[in-house]
Amino acid sequence: MLAKAARNTYNKRMSFIELNAVKFTYNSGERDEAVALDGVSLSIGAGEFVAVVGHNGSGKSTLAKLINGLYEPDEGEILVDGLSTADDKNLFDIRSRVGVVFQNPDNQMVATIIEDDIAFGPENLGLPPAEIRARVDWALAGVGMSEYAKGMPFKLSGGQKQRVAIAGVLALKPRVMILDESTSMLDPKGREEVMRVVKKLVDEEKMTVILITHFMEEAMQCGRIVVLKEGKVFLDGGREILTREAELKEAGLETPFAVRMANALRARGIGIDADVMTLPALVEALCR
Ligand SMILES: Nc1ncnc2c1ncn2[C@@H]1O[C@H](COP(=O)(O)OP(=O)(O)OP(=O)(O)O)[C@@H](O)[C@H]1O
Ligand SMILES: [Mg+2]
Repeated sequence: MLAKAARNTYNKRMSFIELNAVKFTYNSGERDEAVALDGVSLSIGAGEFVAVVGHNGSGKSTLAKLINGLYEPDEGEILVDGLSTADDKNLFDIRSRVGVVFQNPDNQMVATIIEDDIAFGPENLGLPPAEIRARVDWALAGVGMSEYAKGMPFKLSGGQKQRVAIAGVLALKPRVMILDESTSMLDPKGREEVMRVVKKLVDEEKMTVILITHFMEEAMQCGRIVVLKEGKVFLDGGREILTREAELKEAGLETPFAVRMANALRARGIGIDADVMTLPALVEALCR
């Protein structure tokens, strides 16, 4: 009995990020107040890989900035590892747990040599040189960029730059990484490179990742998908959310192409399994 209870407690994922009825408004003058988040409650467990999708202006970036403690909620509360973002004395600890990678890789580089760029964060933490060296090497290896350590950032492709930006955040050893549209300026190859690195962080480093994206094909690779609409959580669940065409449309989002095809075929009486969500899977199902 006791052993079973203990096992159940162990299995229950501890929530690492907790938002309780969070409201946030931008005050840019009295008239044009913008309510960016309106009563958002979310609980994200350690090791989860969560996509956040939503139409332009639905509040995705604001959510990232609130979790990172850059902004403070007007109402409600955000806890990161049990620490409230509203308490200034927690901010250092919160920011060392949550790393954010932004959209434009060029704005995230500070040094002219790649390894110096990655060392910048750990240096600011005042870590000993040997520890800095170890972290830089580890972070570069983690994103598959070790051979570029002595290179110059401006010579890299977009995908490589974004991988260096991820390494810069990794070197701070955060528990959570938030990627805010970090692949949106990349070509398909660059996007794929970044997604491969992110998946490796989730699988091998057990990192908690929040992937803000407007590519439904990327969202599909996450275990959980949160859809924001006008500052509210509109849908929250597994991959199957991406088959709910009407609701996605209501949120201003496109259903992935293969899912739309599968839905259309089903409507014409052709039996396609519900888990067919990619083109290769659809082709395989049709061949069968
Ligand atoms: N600095 C700001 N000042 C005033 N309003 C803002 C500011 N930043 C965002 N907003 C407003 O807050 C709302 C949410 O914006 P946010 O940037 O969080 O959305 P988003 O989902 O990230 O959008 P996008 O897909 O365009 O990146 C929008 O209505 C936006 O216009
Ligand atoms: Mg945004």
